[in-house]
Amino acid sequence: MQVINTVKELLATATKIKAEGKTVGMVPTMGALHEGHLSLIRRARKENDAVFVSIFVNPVQFNNPDDLRKYPRTLERDLELIGEDADYVFAPSVEEVFPVQPSEVYDFGPVEKVMEGAARPGHFNGVGVIVRRLLEWVRPDKAYFGEKDYQQIAVIREMVRQCNIQSEIVPCPIVREPNGLAMSSRNRRLTPHEFETAANIHRILEESRQLPDVPQIQAFVEERIAAIPEFRLEYFTIADDSTLQTVQSLQDAAGVMGFITVYVGEVRLIDNIRYK
Ligand code: PAJ
Repeated sequence: MQVINTVKELLATATKIKAEGKTVGMVPTMGALHEGHLSLIRRARKENDAVFVSIFVNPVQFNNPDDLRKYPRTLERDLELIGEDADYVFAPSVEEVFPVQPSEVYDFGPVEKVMEGAARPGHFNGVGVIVRRLLEWVRPDKAYFGEKDYQQIAVIREMVRQCNIQSEIVPCPIVREPNGLAMSSRNRRLTPHEFETAANIHRILEESRQLPDVPQIQAFVEERIAAIPEFRLEYFTIADDSTLQTVQSLQDAAGVMGFITVYVGEVRLIDNIRYK
């Protein structure tokens, strides 16, 4: 595996790989890698001749300066974890990616206006800014994203459509801790007690799948989350899995999912579950 720090070298490498007729897979990350990230990288390895991983804590997608400051940065360990599962790791500085502060403003339509888009103003615009650049620099055949950030995939699909990017966006299943908690770089900020308590998010969502319809599910999840003193619910939304707009009944859409954001102490965690 080779580490690349500059855009110039990234462009030259991607161009060379393509000239050799190889297929290219790409996995964008912000580092602090865990098994969730590694599952994407291994899938990219299986499905492509060459694999690019990016590790870049993208400042323009953080609407909270404290969150940006506290975001774990563990490059040496990340490179060890990747090992030979990727061929190239792009790990640029902020100045390299953004020689000037980016000013693009996108409108990704209804999918970006709800849930994380409503709770974190500017977040998805910042995701669009960085993912567009990465995909245009590497021009991968396939780019891999985790369904833990389900709404992010919807936004990226819309960005790719609007910008005529030819890469296929490949969604990958959520990887969980043995206790059911969705893996996240933010989990390392939980105390051991919070880590165990946080597993209730997935447990409650799993239990809610037994309920007959949306009003019962909504009430059950809200009550059960409220009953845990360490939790503070930001939102629980039951929505159409393609438009991400709320539904009143499981009959309202072909696919229906629940999306949750909970503060566990200071740490903001997201998860989701499929009902249909
Ligand atoms: P990051 O949070 O580092 O996540 C990188 C990729 O790993 C994303 O596609 C995310 O959905 C996926 N991922 C994270 N946890 C996962 C889990 N438990 N199971 C499966 N996949 C998981 O998402 C970002 O970075 C950034 O927004 C990025 C797309 C890199 C743009 O900056």
